[in-house]
Amino acid sequence: MTTFWSWYITILTIGTFVALFWLVFATRKGEPKGGTDQTMGHAFDGIEEYDNPLPKWWFLLYVGTIIFAIGYLILYPGLGNWKGVLPGYEGGWTQAKQWQREVDKAETQYGPIFAKFAAMPIADVAQDPQALKMGGRLFATYCSVCHGSDAKGSVGFPNLTDANWRWGGEPDAIKTTILHGRMAAMPAWGPILGDEGVKNVAAYVRQGLAGLTLPEGSEADVAAGKQIFETNCAACHGATGLGMAAMGAPDLTHSAGWIYGSSLAQLQQTIRYGRNGQMPAQEPYLGNDKVHLLAAYVYSLSQGKEQVAAK
Ligand code: HEC
Ligand code: HEC
Repeated sequence: MTTFWSWYITILTIGTFVALFWLVFATRKGEPKGGTDQTMGHAFDGIEEYDNPLPKWWFLLYVGTIIFAIGYLILYPGLGNWKGVLPGYEGGWTQAKQWQREVDKAETQYGPIFAKFAAMPIADVAQDPQALKMGGRLFATYCSVCHGSDAKGSVGFPNLTDANWRWGGEPDAIKTTILHGRMAAMPAWGPILGDEGVKNVAAYVRQGLAGLTLPEGSEADVAAGKQIFETNCAACHGATGLGMAAMGAPDLTHSAGWIYGSSLAQLQQTIRYGRNGQMPAQEPYLGNDKVHLLAAYVYSLSQGKEQVAAK
């Protein structure tokens, strides 16, 4: 702010305070003395106005707000270029400094707790009620937008509470997923296989691998689909369709773990155009210790669950 505007604001503000003080003291007439029949001397529709002094509570409130405002303007920036003298804020209060102080305070308070858990194996952390509570809170803040507040996922986002894993469900695999993120690459097969080929292999995935029924009257050639699968898909999804964690290629024999749908139409969509699910890396925002806690929380969700074939 230029010096001119700084003085402009300062003088205007202080001038207003002076005027407010003058207004109330110049018009104040002693303490209230109870009822009085002195009137102002004029009437509106037969109603007369009494000339009573201001009530005491009103007067004190008025003066109180002015004193509050003056104190505020001394402590906080508000008068032009004046930065305020709030204790603990070198060079004046700002929102950014207040935020940083709160972050630092939380860091000194919780840092040691995170560090304690970070030094323990994930499977052990997953047994600790306090750790799971903290992990659950982190999950609600950072993960539930995509995976849902119950961690059960939705279309395009995997369920983290079941025994189906795309990138591996061991504690370290889960932590690696969260730390560095994952980028799935399912190629588009439409241009290579053509409509007929896509239809056949989709039917094979649905019936031959996942054991689901085909719609009545389906003309897909499942045997031809199997051929296509062995030639084109087995490299990633495995010869028996059990998937490959290193590529994030899902198990195609357990449709309960599929995230893009299991109807023939959805399967054809996936196979024709490909899919690129992305799990964003969390290390840059959360750091190792929080991710460690999250990995333990996620790991705990699926413990004791059996893999089921279909939803
Ligand atoms: C280069 C490796 C690779 C090849 C080859 C490949 N896939 Fe995939 N496939 C993937 C990956 C990775 C995913 C996971 C995509 C995602 O999560 O976004 C996937 C996902 C799928 C899904 C979706 C499962 C779900 O969760 O809904 C189906 C169905 C599928 N593939 C079928 C096939 C078929 C059929 C073929 C052969 C024509 C094939 N894939 C070839 C890597 C591959
Ligand atoms: C922007 C959306 C998004 C956010 C936020 C997100 N994820 Fe994910 N996550 C995904 C997607 C999409 C996948 C599946 C990637 C794929 O297709 O293979 C995934 C996959 C995963 C997997 C692997 C599942 C498997 O089957 O192997 C884990 C574990 C996971 N996320 C945990 C988390 C945690 C913990 C957080 C919070 C720190 C989080 N995610 C935040 C989108 C998200």
